[in-house]
Amino acid sequence: MTTTDRHILDLHRRGLLTGALALTALVTQPGCVALAQDQGLFGLGVASGDPWPDSVVLWTRLTPATPDPVPLRWELATDDGFGQVVARGEALASPDHAHAVHVIPQGLQPGRRYWYRFHAQGQTSPVGRTRTAPAPGADVPVRFVNASCQRYEHGLFTAWRHVAADDTLDFVFFNGDYIYEYAHRAAGSTPILVRAVDGPECVTLDQYRARYAQYRRDPDLQAAHAAHPFIVVFDDHEVQNNWVSDIPSVPQPAGVEFALRKAAAFRAWYENMPVRPGALPRGAEITAYRRLVFGRQMALHVLDTRGYRDDQPCGDGRKPACEAVHNPAAQVLGPAQEAWLFDSVAGNSAAMQVLGQQIFMAPRPGPHGEVSMDSWDGYPAARARVMRGLRQRGVANPIVLTGDVHRAWAGLVMVDEQALGTEFVATSISSDGDGRDADQGALALIGAHPHLRFHSARRGYTRHEAKDGQMLAEFVALPFVSHPGAEARIVARLMTEARAPGIITA
Ligand SMILES: [Fe+2]
Repeated sequence: MTTTDRHILDLHRRGLLTGALALTALVTQPGCVALAQDQGLFGLGVASGDPWPDSVVLWTRLTPATPDPVPLRWELATDDGFGQVVARGEALASPDHAHAVHVIPQGLQPGRRYWYRFHAQGQTSPVGRTRTAPAPGADVPVRFVNASCQRYEHGLFTAWRHVAADDTLDFVFFNGDYIYEYAHRAAGSTPILVRAVDGPECVTLDQYRARYAQYRRDPDLQAAHAAHPFIVVFDDHEVQNNWVSDIPSVPQPAGVEFALRKAAAFRAWYENMPVRPGALPRGAEITAYRRLVFGRQMALHVLDTRGYRDDQPCGDGRKPACEAVHNPAAQVLGPAQEAWLFDSVAGNSAAMQVLGQQIFMAPRPGPHGEVSMDSWDGYPAARARVMRGLRQRGVANPIVLTGDVHRAWAGLVMVDEQALGTEFVATSISSDGDGRDADQGALALIGAHPHLRFHSARRGYTRHEAKDGQMLAEFVALPFVSHPGAEARIVARLMTEARAPGIITA
């Protein structure tokens, strides 16, 4: 047992961790990163996440001057002035976890706002605002954002400033690519370089931790986290471009074992995300799929389309299908997650069953039959099995929320000429830079395939509202991310209904 563990145990014995989750050391190795001190102990901000009707995760990560564990206090109130504190506790920010803490106050009221803050070493954090999920029987509208892909070098996080200012949201769903692992690139070496990341390609725990710290210092991202609870899952770049299962997409740098890299990446992801202890990694394994229910209107099934997937067929890339695409046993979710999803939709009665996931699900074959091997098009048997399985369990219109492609899309999920679901794809927060209103190739795909209905190549996010058995999708686009001050505008308002796949203009 380390000194840190002993300290946590001691706090437990003294009852000081009541209501808080004590993070016990998973792996005890030194991992303190030298971080700039100029913004104080709380320079990485605060966050909350995974709202349930009676609890929510509160998060912060300290940047102390020494590698010692730092005791902290937290408090949660029903007002932003902290006149009515309803929960408080203590926790220990340990260097074993990059001085990050996750605390989970219990016994909260459903569907209401709370404010929280932390105190340590005589300093007080920024105030965060959060919200619990509605009571299970409450038939209330649910409003949220779907966002993804925030490559730091490619643009400012102005979109997050607009998300932060939206007072109506219940939560933000972030479906992946929270960081990008790539090395610093010099100006002139890359077509888009709005700002630079520090350091080499992330491979070690310290490097991933430092990358999260750099992202978390962004004031717009901090503002979004402080304004709303996040429900976060990873895609590929939290580890490495286009990895699946235990298969890296390219050979690893000399001396790097992919399993160790994955373990480091998952550990840093957990440390830096406001997620529940169910997502604690076990070395290179992690269980990120989970269900969150928002009253009678919607259940969000958060999926992991990376960790259990078969290798991309035909050597990855976008190309005509080779034989391997037609593998009838193809796996995207893997057998265990697929079975869990079927149980999960059968186990709740919300009007809308929403799949929060990463990769494009609606078919998008090009004029010569070419498909993206890193999307569900590379695994049509898995897509058919999942969508038919959902239909067999009474889900008339699974609503699929996606990211990954840095473009906004809307379309129907077709299986053998039959629409079995409706997909809304959020564009990127910053990845691929300023963008444009539309890609010619995408417009040609929409012209060729009636099930594809909308496309935008700007940066932004999608704002959703689940109400009265209908899901609204407002596609929010920014004209630029290369310089500050972009306004957000809604470029499309589309709607689908729980009772059948379809997309209408709202
Ligand atoms: Fe991305």
